[in-house]
Amino acid sequence: MFLEIITAIAVGLWVMLPAYLPNSFAAAFGGGKPIDGGKTMKDGRRILGDGKTWRGFFAGVLLGFLAGAAQIFLLRYGFHFFGISLPGFSASGVSGAFDLSAVIAILSLAVGALLGDMAFSFLKRRLGLQRGRAFPVADQYDFLIGAFLLTAITSFGWLAATVSWLTFIIIIIITPVLHFGTNCVGYWLGIKNEPW
Ligand code: CTP
Ligand code: MG
Repeated sequence: MFLEIITAIAVGLWVMLPAYLPNSFAAAFGGGKPIDGGKTMKDGRRILGDGKTWRGFFAGVLLGFLAGAAQIFLLRYGFHFFGISLPGFSASGVSGAFDLSAVIAILSLAVGALLGDMAFSFLKRRLGLQRGRAFPVADQYDFLIGAFLLTAITSFGWLAATVSWLTFIIIIIITPVLHFGTNCVGYWLGIKNEPW
């Protein structure tokens, strides 16, 4: 059981890397034109707010994609985690394969993460929460929900074959811890305005 849990942690972190990185990179490189164009809705509040920008979105997608591509190339050179073999992103099941299915899976993880984050910003604004205000649980899970949903739509076979139930549960447990940890680092570095 111990080895199974360690394996699930390693596989979970590895597979979700293209979903974990985009939001940090959006925070590091974001700014400029907001995606909602500064528009407000009938409730008088912004559609998404100034915290969701085009630059953040594209920086996040690009770096999430580059991370996934780099992971595949590492797998080609036999990369593994202390003897635990790590999965790739191709529906073919060949871990080092960089084919269309792998590109789609990686992009779905990255784009899904950013869309999930945007969807919850939309919800926060409708609830009257200003940009940057904490929305507990949602702030920690919004990007994960988006990443899983989009990847389940585009790459269900790969997802089901790669993420076991145990790995799925481990991802759900460690994601808020990781999210909080990286946000604290971002906050101390002055990249993020709030530690959530
Ligand atoms: N960011 C961005 N574009 C995105 C997502 C994030 O530019 N698509 C940047 C913004 O500078 C944002 C920071 O990353 O302030 C942190 O993201 P997040 O915590 O999601 O935004 P908040 O400012 O807290 O806004 P919200 O209340 O809408 O979550
Ligand atoms: Mg926030």
